[in-house]
Amino acid sequence: MMGSSGTESGVRHFLSIGDLPVEEAIELFRWARLFKQARPHLPQGLGYTLAHTTWVLLFSKPSTRTRLSFEIAIRELGGESLFLPFTDLQLARGESMADTARVMGRLAHGAIIRTYAQAEIEEFSRWASIPTVNALSDEEHPCQVLSDIFSFEEKRGSIQGKRVAFLGDGSCNVARSWAIAASRFGFDLIIGSPHCFWFPSPSERVFWTESPWEAAQEADLLYTDVWVSMGKEGEKEAREELLRPYQLRSELVKKAKPDVLVFHCLPAYKGKEITAELFEARAQEILDQAENRLHVQKALLSWLVKKLPSSPGV
Ligand code: CP
Ligand code: NVA
Repeated sequence: MMGSSGTESGVRHFLSIGDLPVEEAIELFRWARLFKQARPHLPQGLGYTLAHTTWVLLFSKPSTRTRLSFEIAIRELGGESLFLPFTDLQLARGESMADTARVMGRLAHGAIIRTYAQAEIEEFSRWASIPTVNALSDEEHPCQVLSDIFSFEEKRGSIQGKRVAFLGDGSCNVARSWAIAASRFGFDLIIGSPHCFWFPSPSERVFWTESPWEAAQEADLLYTDVWVSMGKEGEKEAREELLRPYQLRSELVKKAKPDVLVFHCLPAYKGKEITAELFEARAQEILDQAENRLHVQKALLSWLVKKLPSSPGV
């Protein structure tokens, strides 16, 4: 049933936003709402769906939100987490990913991986045979976009039929996950980005324009991400020059629908991809968006171990 993640063994993975069938995402969002409502009532919460399990977080890139939200989610679901930078592992001295994965698969119950190549995460999932999550690769950031769709729907109802505008680095991992999500969740995505950042549209729901004005027109959601993604630091000056016209600013917001939401996956570089003024004006919705990573990932982890609680219990 699942997409690229391969489930011959029955193990669920979340390597791409395309791995989650939309009907399961709807159920997952229902549980994310319940986890959110239940949190003030911890410790009884919603049940310890990860009790007696240990999850490894393998990261080769920095992280604030993803690490924190996953580690807290795992604790609050009764599990344990171990944060393992790639540099601390024998991987850094040449041990293969296949061997690393086979050992971890014997010891841990799940893995959450942030690295450069998507193929590395896929390789881990094949060899480890434990639930594996893509916590950001150069190609995708599925946990971010899953949570962002939840955040949109929490404030505006179903995203189906809506118009999402992504401005800036159209080639980045976050934009690519949005592009895969568009046809599945039934919204239109218009990416305002210089032509050199375009990639083939994965569906007829994804449109490209070099005009930030056209992209912002009548948008229900305006979204941006950093101009210099992790690993692209060598292109910093060229990117800042190319992407300056796509800065999210109040003039562009006026082109959108009157009730447009402004989201940023964070970290934000104010004065670059978004003005400080617009960021502060929309800080509430951007921070709601950041908080929801926790609630959605609790539901995601529970789904991965096939333990979405059958009753709310609050
Ligand atoms: N948005 C996001 O993934 O943030 P971190 O890089 O801090 O995890
Ligand atoms: N596109 C950004 C996302 C950060 C959460 C990056 O890869 O650095």
